This record gives sequence, C-alpha cells and structure tokens, in this order.
Amino acid sequence: MGAPIKLVLIGANGMLGQTVQEALPVGYELVAGNYPQVDLLQPSLVAKILQESSPDIIVNCAAHTAVDACEKEQELALHINGEGPGLLAALAKKLAAVLVHVSTDYVFDGASSIPYREEDDTGPQSAYGRSKLAGEQAILERGLERFFIVRTSWLYGPHGKNFVETILRLAGEKEEIRIVADQIGSPTLTDDLAGGLFRLLKTELFGVYHFSNEGKCSWHEFACAIVEGARQRGAKLKVERIVPIRTEDYPLPAPRPAFSLMDKGKYRAATGCDVPHWREALGRYLDRRLGKIGA
Ligand SMILES: NC(=O)c1ccc[n+]([C@@H]2O[C@H](COP(=O)([O-])OP(=O)(O)OC[C@H]3O[C@@H](n4cnc5c(N)ncnc54)[C@H](OP(=O)(O)O)[C@@H]3O)[C@@H](O)[C@H]2O)c1
Repeated sequence: MGAPIKLVLIGANGMLGQTVQEALPVGYELVAGNYPQVDLLQPSLVAKILQESSPDIIVNCAAHTAVDACEKEQELALHINGEGPGLLAALAKKLAAVLVHVSTDYVFDGASSIPYREEDDTGPQSAYGRSKLAGEQAILERGLERFFIVRTSWLYGPHGKNFVETILRLAGEKEEIRIVADQIGSPTLTDDLAGGLFRLLKTELFGVYHFSNEGKCSWHEFACAIVEGARQRGAKLKVERIVPIRTEDYPLPAPRPAFSLMDKGKYRAATGCDVPHWREALGRYLDRRLGKIGA
C-alpha cells in the first residue's frame, strides 16, 4: 500500500465536518482542524498548521452559518466566508494541495423556476449569500487549478442543530406547527454530501459542482414527511396540524431563496453515481435516530 492521502479538515467539529470525518475512506489520514483552535480569522495560525501538516487535500467545512446573524455581522461573515476560502486557496496553491470548499444555494437569487446549473448567474439576496459568493470568487481569483467548490442546500445530519431536529422537537411539544410552504428546495443529508465530496475527489475533474439530495419539496412538505416518518417509527408526537404558511407570515432578518433547486447533472456525469432522493435519505436518518420501521 502507498503512503496515506493526508487530508486537513477545516471546520472539523461542525455538522458537516463531523460527518466528513466519519466518511473518511480507507487510505486517508485525517488532520482535524477544530474551531477555535483552527480559526479562519487567524491567517498566520492557519498557514502554520497547514504548512506543518503539508496536506494533499484541504477540505473546508468551516463557515459563519448563522444566516440571520450574518445580516448584522456582515464584516465578520465576509472575513470568515469570503476571505477564509481565499486564504485556503492561496495555501493550497503554495502546498500543491487540492482544495474542497463547500458553498450554498444562497448564492442564487431564488427567482428561477428550473434547477440552477453551475454556470448560471448568481445573485445572492442575503449577507450570508454574498459572503459565501465572495468565498467562491476568492478561490477562483487565486488561480488554483485543483479545487472543488460544491454548492449544497438545506443540510441536516446527526451532528448539528437542523430542521429535522427542530420539527421533531416542536411536533413533540405542540398541537399545531406552522411551516413555510412557498420556498422550494432539496434537503441534503450530510452523509450523502460527505460521500459525494469523496467521490468527486476521486474523479480529479475539478471545478464547481452542485450536490443536494434528489427531488424537491417545500419546507412544509419536508416537515410533513418528518412527522409521518417519525410516527411510522413509533415516535409519540403531540402535533395534530402542520399548517402551511407563506414566507411573509414568518418574517426573518435574512431573505431566503424562494426556489433553490440545483441541477446535479454535472456531479452525476463526473462520478457516474446517482444521488439519493431526499425521502430515502430522510428515511435513513430517521432509522438511525428512532429505529427502523416495525423494529
Ligand atoms: N447548514 C445548511 O443548511 C447549509 C446549507 C448550504 C450550505 N452549507 C454550507 O455547508 C458548510 C457546512 O455547514 P454546517 O451546516 O456543517 O455548519 P456548522 O455546523 O455551523 O459548521 C461550521 C463550523 O465552522 C466553525 N467556524 C465558525 N467560525 C469559524 C472560524 N472563524 N474559523 C474556523 N471555523 C469556524 C463553526 O464553529 P462554531 O459552531 O463553534 O461556531 C462550526 O464548527 C458551510 O460551508 C455552509 O456554508 C450549509
């Protein structure tokens, strides 16, 4: 067997970062860059750690992900989500490493009615979206040849606060929950995205990719599927009504894209792999969380 492939994971203790650690294929050696020990706001520290590790691959799962807080903390968001990836790209170039960076559907304006392709015009509507787009642009500007920018959406998984857990909690506490029904997108299970990142790495077909689970739904449909799936697995939930509401009935500081479906054709063509449907992925998550149906 040859030398292991050395991978430094930035944001290793985040929701996706922890799943990327679990999904590490045989033959890789991991250096986990946990926040705050590895802080994108401290470029010299990040440079020192990367230079000492001399990685073959840098994976960036770190970000300022509090979408509403970003509206008030625009500078901080730009430093972490915009300049951070630029720093990693410069270091990847210097160290001849591949950079894998995770981005978001929020770089689009949400006004489309057909799934966004990688080359479509961007038009972020929120400070978070603008900061993430700045991160993509910073990578491109560094002239790094070997990089993947992978945009994803509606992420959930076993290692973080997420929509599925919020719905399970609310459904256990309340008879009625009200969920936005006019935003359409694709939920994405972190396990599937982590697997997708490693499949892309194998291809060496560098560039920008979209990866979310297949299929589409509104947040309301997603909530209904979560409650139904949880009940099928024996969860005792109080909720009786899941009421569809409009975005304007649930105002938040940061605007959300009304439509954020992304075309996964480029990923499928590069890897030769299908993308699991969101309902199937949710089933796997609930199996693990609550036990299998009828078990
Ligand atoms: N969650 C979603 O729905 C979603 C959708 C589309 C795209 N994405 C993208 O997917 C990636 C992973 O997201 P996630 O959901 O796993 O987010 P997450 O759980 O919030 O993880 C992000 C990690 O980055 C860390 N971090 C914050 N500031 C940092 C800094 N200055 N330097 C280094 N690390 C820092 C966080 O630490 P603390 O937790 O201690 O602050 C956390 O461990 C991000 O790039 C995000 O933009 C997420």
